Amino acid sequence: MTDMPQDLLEQIKHFEEVFTVDKTKLKQVVDHFVKELEKGLSVEGGNIPMNVTWVMGFPDGNEKGTFLALDMGGTNLRVCEITLTDEKGGFDIIQSKYKMPEELKTGTAEELWEYTVDCVQQFIEYHHENQKLSQLPLGFTFSYPATQDYIDHGVLQRWTKGFDIDGVEGEDVVPPLEKCFKDRGLPIKVAALINDTTGTLIASSYTDSAMKIGCIFGTGVNAAYMEDAGSIPKLAHMNLPADMPIAINCEYGAFDNEHVVLPLTKYDHIIDRDSPRPGQQAFEKMTAGLYLGEIFRLALVDLLDSRPGLIFADQDHTLLRTPYLLDSSFPAAIEEDPYENLTETEDLVQQKLKIKATSAELELMRRLAELIGTRAARLSACGVAAICKKKNIDACHVGADGSVFTKYPHFKARGAQALREILDWAPTEQDKVTIHAAEDGSGVGAALIAALTLKRVRAGNLAGIRNAKEMQAFC
Ligand code: BGC
Repeated sequence: MTDMPQDLLEQIKHFEEVFTVDKTKLKQVVDHFVKELEKGLSVEGGNIPMNVTWVMGFPDGNEKGTFLALDMGGTNLRVCEITLTDEKGGFDIIQSKYKMPEELKTGTAEELWEYTVDCVQQFIEYHHENQKLSQLPLGFTFSYPATQDYIDHGVLQRWTKGFDIDGVEGEDVVPPLEKCFKDRGLPIKVAALINDTTGTLIASSYTDSAMKIGCIFGTGVNAAYMEDAGSIPKLAHMNLPADMPIAINCEYGAFDNEHVVLPLTKYDHIIDRDSPRPGQQAFEKMTAGLYLGEIFRLALVDLLDSRPGLIFADQDHTLLRTPYLLDSSFPAAIEEDPYENLTETEDLVQQKLKIKATSAELELMRRLAELIGTRAARLSACGVAAICKKKNIDACHVGADGSVFTKYPHFKARGAQALREILDWAPTEQDKVTIHAAEDGSGVGAALIAALTLKRVRAGNLAGIRNAKEMQAFC
């Protein structure tokens, strides 16, 4: 370290204390997590929704057909056409990506559906100009918590990831989307509404049978895994065979909304208080990409306020005081700075915040970014470990996607280290639960799930399918 003033050294020490999650805490978090996963499956329910998805079993690699997939994630909207080919596990894909305009996230339901269908229409017009299309089955990846009485149905429980559109929560999102398709004469029918985690699980298991969990570490966080119907008390009334596999979309971003075990800092409390949905998504708000830059910013603002003059003296702090000015790419870029004197960080801070930082301030920011990124990775591992413990999985592959997983430096290694600590592998043992970059869950996964649903319609296995009759048109 350069000659760091004593006051700043003390501050770094303070940040280390509040952001470090040691092995004992990780284990406490996981123990509570396992209980909460169980609770979510019970009739009474709990914080973690444990949504039943009606995806019943893994693909066998022989699925076929052409499907549309619509992915409404947190940042982009993507439309794909996927052909599952004759080759086992093979597929062809064409796709277009559209930016989700920021104002749409707090606009009206009508604007949301119209924009979504505009994108699908553009895609169809571009790729199928002057063609007469017959009915196209759509896998709709709607990555928000939804109650599904059927696979082609989904009542939004609550918006997450900063979305706040009136008139959608508590409603089935399939009919308004299908109505817009119909109004525009588009021959598209929702065959399955899926979560990105379920898509990730299914797409990853298509090419790797050791995949048991699908995770997203991105703008939001969540995981899905395959449960046996007999272990889902809230489905007991349906008398399904006990060993029937059903994918559960955990929605574990909502873990510990009661704040029993998570090591919350005052910055986490501020994020929660100022969010569109206070009291919700406690785990997500500490680990997801949407919040990492904001946690970083709030920690610096706290220093400005609690120790005036200690950092960025005589500089304009206006930009630094702008909520959500920094996204997770900011601390990620600081962690990635290869230069010992942090020249890239210096330029970044200058550009983004119009602040000229001293060497000591740059070092403080580097350490802060490391601490926030490390905390996110270690806590993220708790969700994976909890599913493994709940299902008595000793070894497996986990398919993961999302911007934090793919782009945040050291996230994978830090998560792997935390899994090692939580699951008590001997130092001589190799990692037994390993997290891998997933196949395209929201595209290929959605198509596969649509294909699996149609296969069930053909076989007359209609549990959890609402519009089986209409789907026969595709079979
Ligand atoms: C949503 C989940 C989604 C996750 C990752 C969360 O905010 O509630 O449905 O899987 O983000 O996209």
